Amino acid sequence: MNILILAAGKGTRMKSALPKVLHPVGGQSMLARVVGTASKFDNPHLVVVLGHGAQEVQQHLASHANLQFATQAEQLGTGHAVQCASSALADHAVTLILYGDVPLIQFESLQPLVKAAQAGQLGLMTLSMANPHGYGRILRDAEGAAVGIVEQKDATPAQQVISEVNTGILACPTAQLKTWVNRLSNNNAQGEYYLTDIIAMAHAEGLLVRTCQPAHHWEVSGVNSRVQQAELERIWQLHQAEKLMVEGVQLLDPARIDLRGTLHCGADVSIDVGCVFQGNVTLGDRVSIGPYCVLNNVSIAAGTRVDAYSHLTDATVGENAVVGPYARLRPGAKLGNEVHIGNFVEVKNATIANQSKANHLAYIGDAQIGERVNVGAGTITCNYDGANKHLTIIEDDVFIGSDTQLVAPVTVKKGATLGAGTTLTKDAPENALTVSRTKQITISGWKRPVKSTKK
Ligand code: UD1
Ligand code: CA
Repeated sequence: MNILILAAGKGTRMKSALPKVLHPVGGQSMLARVVGTASKFDNPHLVVVLGHGAQEVQQHLASHANLQFATQAEQLGTGHAVQCASSALADHAVTLILYGDVPLIQFESLQPLVKAAQAGQLGLMTLSMANPHGYGRILRDAEGAAVGIVEQKDATPAQQVISEVNTGILACPTAQLKTWVNRLSNNNAQGEYYLTDIIAMAHAEGLLVRTCQPAHHWEVSGVNSRVQQAELERIWQLHQAEKLMVEGVQLLDPARIDLRGTLHCGADVSIDVGCVFQGNVTLGDRVSIGPYCVLNNVSIAAGTRVDAYSHLTDATVGENAVVGPYARLRPGAKLGNEVHIGNFVEVKNATIANQSKANHLAYIGDAQIGERVNVGAGTITCNYDGANKHLTIIEDDVFIGSDTQLVAPVTVKKGATLGAGTTLTKDAPENALTVSRTKQITISGWKRPVKSTKK
């Protein structure tokens, strides 16, 4: 099948340099969302109609294979947009028309439209609205058959009373679509080529116009302004939150979670308020996430607790670990089981094996830490010499005293102890105490300076 996505509009009311369809909802551009939904069909032939910001939009979609682009240089109406893409559409398949600024349309709601088209009918998605102002109205004959659409600006007062509106989304046989859009005129209140005029043409040719409604009204909400974008964002977030709760996730407040990627949760996961999830996040059974955490591409195994205000990116955490409060796991942080990472500890590109702990104020970067290691408060891996990054290796059962600097590349052998305040520049041998520290002295009789009194 062909899926045509109209995305040529400028989006003046967004007041943004970014083309409207590239603005995000739920952490993904509106257009990428529509492309994603369209891609759920079997072997779809996707055609995107570009206009304003064509280059930027095309670049944005570069990672999607099998996308074809059509250009609508001047926006002369939705019917004109379809004309511009006409040659890209395969005649033997049906065509489904979607919109780059109607981001939340769901695959399931589109099924009946496509089925209608495949049966040689015209499938049209409509919606009844309490306030239909601004939308095209669905015209029906005495038998109730849909026979046409009249736009707001062309509607008579009697037609303006109609509450069933056109969502714009439709599907129909392609060869007919092409002949219809070629016959459109712009002789109407807006001087545009209205795609909606094809409904009357289809009816005149004896095609059944089959109307269907979306499962949720927000699926067909378009975004024209930042206010509408924010409204749709909240609706989408609440919908996702409800889905999580239905799956058994405890959300302390479903109105205070932001999911901007995908979140897979095991059983009895609990998520406190204000958390943001990005990329792909997986939380194992009984994982608990404290308030105001940010998790971006993170995998956390069963029984682990992430306490308040922790920030985790591209990291993995084992079972029954404790992270935070105020912890930061940066890309490449790999924590084993029962690892403890406490407040103001930063871990980057480092493996920390089972049962090791860094509970307070530390920087662990480019390091391999073994099992049962204790990293004292204020420990720093000096991984960067100003030009290159170097590795610190800390073997099993090491004890690192507080305020130690490990000047990489350096290795601390099994069972070694580093005295507090050590600046380690050479490898520390196994099972011994290594300490670099000036000898402590006491000067008796020493007097503190006193403040001089001005004369
Ligand atoms: C359109 C429908 C209307 C429907 C409403 C639903 C027509 C004539 N009217 O009206 O019945 O109730 O959508 O929201 O179709 N676009 C292009 N090229 C153009 C014109 C539009 O790509 O030349 C794209 C826009 O970027 C937008 C979409 O098509 O994504 C709809 O265009 P818009 O002008 O907003 O249509 P409406 O006047 O709202
Ligand atoms: Ca318009």
